Amino acid sequence: MSDTYTLYNSTVMEHFMNPRNMGDLKDADGVGEVGAAACGDIMKISLKIEDGRIADARFKTFGCGSAIASSSMATELIKGRTIDEAMNFSNQEVVDALGGLPPVKIHCSVLAEEALKAALEDYVKRHPEKAQKSAPVAA
Ligand code: FES
Repeated sequence: MSDTYTLYNSTVMEHFMNPRNMGDLKDADGVGEVGAAACGDIMKISLKIEDGRIADARFKTFGCGSAIASSSMATELIKGRTIDEAMNFSNQEVVDALGGLPPVKIHCSVLAEEALKAALEDYVKRHPEKAQKSAPVAA
């Protein structure tokens, strides 16, 4: 890879050049859109939820390469998780799965965590009865 890309590792570049899960979900169950005040970037995540689990996820990101790679990786990581598991999702998972981000670009992964949580909150707002069903049963 050329020196132009030395800021990012090959995993980040791969997700930036070939992003997974880009676009919208028709009939999404939850949609979250957030913006980063510092840079003006915007990220939207749409979720399809079936039987209390994330069946599908898509993103649209108007932002930097790190934000695009972060949303691509985040949507890959959260598929199959329960709502509760996804609520505990952290941007650090994205950073680790991408093999690291430059310190000045960590906030791009935070945007992915925030967009996911906004989409989950939207789902819970729209489907309070289904969200309760996914809650763990007390022993
Ligand atoms: Fe703001 Fe990447 S520079 S999200």
